Amino acid sequence: MMKAVVQTGFGDPAAVLRVAEVDKPTAAVEDGVLVRVKAASIHIGAVYGVRGYPKIMRSMFKSFIGENGVIGQNMAGIVETVGKNVAHVNVGDEVFGAATGAFAEYAATTADALAVKPSNLTFEQASAIGVSATTALQALRDHGSLQQGQHVLITGASGGVGTFAVQLAKAMGAEVTGVCSTRNLDLVRSIGADHVIDYTQENFTMGDPQYDLIFDNVGAHSLKDMRRVLTADGLLLANGAPAPAGWFGGLDHVLKVMFASLLSRQQGRPFLSTENANDRNRLRELAEAGKIAPVIDHVFALDDAVAAVASVGNGHNQGTSVIAMQSAS
Ligand SMILES: NC(=O)c1ccc[n+]([C@@H]2O[C@H](COP(=O)([O-])OP(=O)(O)OC[C@H]3O[C@@H](n4cnc5c(N)ncnc54)[C@H](OP(=O)(O)O)[C@@H]3O)[C@@H](O)[C@H]2O)c1
Repeated sequence: MMKAVVQTGFGDPAAVLRVAEVDKPTAAVEDGVLVRVKAASIHIGAVYGVRGYPKIMRSMFKSFIGENGVIGQNMAGIVETVGKNVAHVNVGDEVFGAATGAFAEYAATTADALAVKPSNLTFEQASAIGVSATTALQALRDHGSLQQGQHVLITGASGGVGTFAVQLAKAMGAEVTGVCSTRNLDLVRSIGADHVIDYTQENFTMGDPQYDLIFDNVGAHSLKDMRRVLTADGLLLANGAPAPAGWFGGLDHVLKVMFASLLSRQQGRPFLSTENANDRNRLRELAEAGKIAPVIDHVFALDDAVAAVASVGNGHNQGTSVIAMQSAS
């Protein structure tokens, strides 16, 4: 048996989540890997999956729930067992990566969902390199084609995605402006932003600077407003939206951005990130080279995981919050 965070339906975390004793998972005989989880990170999408909004995505949210109802997607830990065909992962390796059912003392996954833990990071930090870091990397490199010397503005610069995006954009040689609230100005400067804008004091869409790329993790402004501060062929990557509600709430913002792009050189685009082995290894290299360091907001005990998920759901993360597992026997 093991302790894990179990989801029993869609709703508020306090109503549908509980920390319970469940059967320990077993890894697939051929290609599976069982990891003794040391830490797991909570990203805002995991909270949407618990609440079940927007409702149209509920079948996808159900796929986030693993064996025995255990949730969680990103973790770091120590390999406990490997399947007979697994070649590059060994018992005792320190790893990080993806597993359905990561908020648990043990998680079953596959070798290609794991990478070697960066030697300079703790398990808590390594667990934070998951959906949020992948999203930031794929946004800037693949969808935004960010080039050295270009000027990028990142909203939600203090959050799970934004803290990785600021560091990755700097590593790519861009000039970076981070938008955040007053309490986060020093944090966003400290991770490399060249300029910071306090959204509680200033509306960046009314400012003078022009940006080649806006990576929007918040969705507080329309494409029409953003166009004022995009270069003539600038791009808006619409990643964030107001908290999802009803059947479509949250998706409508990105769809509006898409339609508004049809008649303009200044494009607005949504995108979906997908975790994969190449990007996981790239993020490990960047961490080991000191180019990115996960910003950890709060480390919660497994017994406090329900409150942890609720807290991330408030949307005021400073970096990423993490659940640290008690030592599993
Ligand atoms: N496309 C994809 O595949 C993908 C993947 C992951 C995430 N996402 C989306 O990306 C968005 C961000 O995710 P996240 O994990 O970074 O969220 P998060 O960890 O909750 O962070 C959000 C951050 O935004 C800040 N913020 C709130 N209002 C703001 C405003 N008006 N201007 C600037 N900053 C503001 C918050 O701090 P304060 O409130 O303290 O200011 C907080 O630090 C979400 O909408 C999520 O659904 C998309």
